Amino acid sequence: MFKLIPIVENTTTSKQYKCKHGLSLYIETTKHKILFDVGPNDLFLENAKKMNININEIDILILSHGHSDHGGGLKYFLNVNQKAKIYVRATAFDPHYIKVMGIPIFVGIDKNLINDRFIFSDNISIIDDELTLFSGIKEGNFYSSSNRKLFVKKNNKMIQDDFNHEQNLIIKVDNKRILISGCSHAGIINILKKAEDLCLSNIDLVFGGMHLFNPPTHKYESDEYIDKIAKELNNTKSIFYTFHCTGVKAYERLKQILNNRIHYIGTGYTYSLDDIC
Ligand SMILES: [Fe+2]
Ligand SMILES: [Fe+2]
Repeated sequence: MFKLIPIVENTTTSKQYKCKHGLSLYIETTKHKILFDVGPNDLFLENAKKMNININEIDILILSHGHSDHGGGLKYFLNVNQKAKIYVRATAFDPHYIKVMGIPIFVGIDKNLINDRFIFSDNISIIDDELTLFSGIKEGNFYSSSNRKLFVKKNNKMIQDDFNHEQNLIIKVDNKRILISGCSHAGIINILKKAEDLCLSNIDLVFGGMHLFNPPTHKYESDEYIDKIAKELNNTKSIFYTFHCTGVKAYERLKQILNNRIHYIGTGYTYSLDDIC
């Protein structure tokens, strides 16, 4: 059993659900009710209520990385949900910044929220036979240029972010291998290759932001870069569902090459594995 619903995403499928720059995905598997990211604020609670999703029942929260558009809702989650284990990279709580016209703006997550329900993920963390988290991607060529605006403060120095704080999720369910990625700062191609290596097989479904859009400047990656990504994705066996930092225009360009192998899913879209079986 596998179901996925974006509770918060940059766009919406219906007027009844508000949308906002950020990401929060509700995922149901045979064994778990998972929240993957909590979006920028308490909007995930408002939308979840309208979608009849009970946030109290979430048993696993995964924070994809230490940026506020994915983790800003954390304090609201902790107020409402008393039972979930929370999987996050310890470095996600380092102070992260984005530089806009050279000025650093804090985009991190409040480390005072850490409590004994938090589990700090390793480079590979096997939660159970359904769920595996992985991170620590260092090699690879496909980094988007907007990553250059992102920094982390260490020893009082602002240094370029290496995205060691980013993690991705592999779900194995109903003989399918599914990859979930929040922003893919480490590059969707690099992340997908690592997921294939870990699974020793192709990935059937990918749900991920692809970081082809830089929100503060509203600038997209170059057409050449987007086409290069599309051609690489086209060489895989996966079907792609994308959102958030891919940006709608970049998605439309990817679709020119990937055709019906890529779909954009906004707030309120319901994906169920049965739909494609
Ligand atoms: Fe991010
Ligand atoms: Fe993001």
